[in-house]
Amino acid sequence: MARPTSRFVCQACGASFPRWEGQCRACEAWNTLVETLVREPGRTRVATRTLEGGTPPTPLRDIQESEVARRSTGIGELDRVLGGGLVPGSLVLLGGEPGVGKSTLVLAAAAGIATRAPGGSGSPGGATSPGARARPTPGASTGANDAPGPVDTVLYASGEESAGQLRLRARRLGLVDGPAGASILVVAETDVERIVERARDVRPAVLVVDSVQTVALDELDGPPGSVGQVREAALRLLQYAKNDGVPVVLVGHVTKDGSLAGPKTLEHLVDAVLALEGDRGGGLRLLRATKNRFGSTEEVGVFAMGEEGLREVTDPARAFLADADRGAPGSAIGATLEGSRPLMVEVQALVAPVAYGTPRRTASGIDQNRLALLLAVLARRAGIGLASHDVYASVAGGLAIEEPALDLPLALALASSLRDRPVRPGTVAAGEIGLLGELRPISGLARRLREAERLGFERAIVPAERGRQSGEVPDRVGGLRVVACGTLREAVTLALAPAAEGAPTP
Ligand code: TYD
Ligand code: MG
Repeated sequence: MARPTSRFVCQACGASFPRWEGQCRACEAWNTLVETLVREPGRTRVATRTLEGGTPPTPLRDIQESEVARRSTGIGELDRVLGGGLVPGSLVLLGGEPGVGKSTLVLAAAAGIATRAPGGSGSPGGATSPGARARPTPGASTGANDAPGPVDTVLYASGEESAGQLRLRARRLGLVDGPAGASILVVAETDVERIVERARDVRPAVLVVDSVQTVALDELDGPPGSVGQVREAALRLLQYAKNDGVPVVLVGHVTKDGSLAGPKTLEHLVDAVLALEGDRGGGLRLLRATKNRFGSTEEVGVFAMGEEGLREVTDPARAFLADADRGAPGSAIGATLEGSRPLMVEVQALVAPVAYGTPRRTASGIDQNRLALLLAVLARRAGIGLASHDVYASVAGGLAIEEPALDLPLALALASSLRDRPVRPGTVAAGEIGLLGELRPISGLARRLREAERLGFERAIVPAERGRQSGEVPDRVGGLRVVACGTLREAVTLALAPAAEGAPTP
């Protein structure tokens, strides 16, 4: 039975019920009831009143453009993904699998914020002009802009770990004795209302809630982490962020399939969704914005997890190659583009005759459907049949790459494994593969080629230009020879080293 303050609302039809049921009695959908806070009429009126007090409709041309004063986190790669820093009053969700390093990253960012003056990341010294402080201080009686403002503290609400554990981590990161040791305030608290209360007292520069799955509202019956709790908690924190103009960073866990645990609505609710991904065993982490109201979703940040926390990798192009290029069959290097950043990644494939039953297709970091499609194209258009083979394919380094240009390196890795012939050393490939076995042009070719050349690759296999797309494919870029292929079959022939050792490169 729900408390008087909550109802179970069907997410499909909107009908509401006093208790949870497996099936909605109104629309007969299954598992759609979510516990939702019933807002008291009084509270609703408060919200309406603030709206009424707001500005009247204004012609577009008369509206002042607001230069948002972003707050640098002191971590270049994070600022880059955020679009230049944290925007006042924004709600940012940082998602990732457990253990990937979310808490480590936010703690380091908290330290960066606490020890830096507000201002854009473009001013490394920190713009200390009071005008740059865009954070309104509602409690202050003076005008928000010329008030000296409180010390830059960061309030870190930890529901996941005890304060002691957090300190241990901070010590490992070398933050306890520095200025951050004094200005990061930790509260081990899971009640959202109390977290907001604390934040109102402290008036931090940034509020961190780690994690959204561990906090809860008292008014709801469901356990922390349930869809209703996660959503209502996020809503409450959103309200705080907007009202007080304080950026709130929410840490959120993602489930195995890569989606954020909790309601999909969480992603619509927040201003930015950052995803931290990478192999827990391996050291590298990729941070990308899957949504960003205040910046592009094109940027990625690269970190290396080490003894002293996450280190920025400022030249990441080669980072994900690990010790690839050692000429093992089943390995191919792809020139991918993550946003505006070219990254060379190793694709690995292993094919083995089926022992019994249906062949297995296991993909990691690669879309399963894309793999299935490529296997069909390889069989029908390139004479590389894998119907009676188990197939394992992955992107090295725990990356997940959705780019179409990964098709060609993946196909080459598969062909290489089946034929037991390595891809020629020094070769990089990029290209989308069509259903007819043709190679389709990809975006940003020039940028990928330049980067491959810089990293010392000797040969790039790319789609030949066709039809209207012309003048794109050069013969060579510096020391990099560019081999343009029209079809997958051709690319496979050119890419694989001959079976016999020591044959000359065509
Ligand atoms: P953590 O930030 O706790 O992950 P999350 O909050 O996403 O669950 O990081 C967990 C892992 O990071 C843990 O296995 C230990 C490792 N780690 C390091 O390798 N070096 C470090 O300096 C720190 C703090 C953690
Ligand atoms: Mg954590």
